[in-house]
Amino acid sequence: MKFFLDTANIDQIKKAHEMGIIDGVTTNPSLMAREGIKGEKNILDHYVKICEIVDGDVSAEVISTDFNGMIAEGEKLASLHEQIVVKIPVIESGIKAIRYLADRGIKTNCTLIFNPGQALLAAKAGAGYVSPFIGRLDDIGETGMELIEKLVHIFDIYGFDTEIIAASIRGTHHITRCMEAGVDVATCPLEAITGLLKHPLTDAGLEKFLSDHRKLNG
Ligand code: E4P
Repeated sequence: MKFFLDTANIDQIKKAHEMGIIDGVTTNPSLMAREGIKGEKNILDHYVKICEIVDGDVSAEVISTDFNGMIAEGEKLASLHEQIVVKIPVIESGIKAIRYLADRGIKTNCTLIFNPGQALLAAKAGAGYVSPFIGRLDDIGETGMELIEKLVHIFDIYGFDTEIIAASIRGTHHITRCMEAGVDVATCPLEAITGLLKHPLTDAGLEKFLSDHRKLNG
């Protein structure tokens, strides 16, 4: 399973990259706003900065909702850097834009997926990735992980090349379930990834090893 970092925060991206465990980054307009990045030039420069830190795909989301706007933005974003993947919402004009961009060799990530039908249409249109949102489904009393499990099964049946990015991950429990489900990618906040390292028996075991060493070695 690949790990993408779900943030636009440069310090966190650098930290995760230095740990050697991330395969890419996903951003969205809310994450960019959280970092206070505004104005087209600053936003585009920020995407390039992220690409220069990490080695893998970096999703940059369009803010247009009409077909012409989406493809113009998509082409501009894709021209910024070879690692840019154009993130497009799963609406009718978005599906059309995904097909248009795919036919021109531009990789897309279809976002805001909440049911299997949306994911199927995005895959048929040629999306490189689909991003089903786990946490937001949990928030409304559904079970987001069920959607991930269904999509892994359905994409396997039809043999789509489209990769599934489990998104809107809220903690280590989601990541562990994603590993069990065999999802292609999990895009996560950094604390959810580092949380995987935590186990009280690891801490206690390490303390015991070190204290036994100190007893003999001072
Ligand atoms: C996916 O690519 C989105 O950026 C993200 O996972 C949304 O997560 P949220 O529901 O925590 O905002």
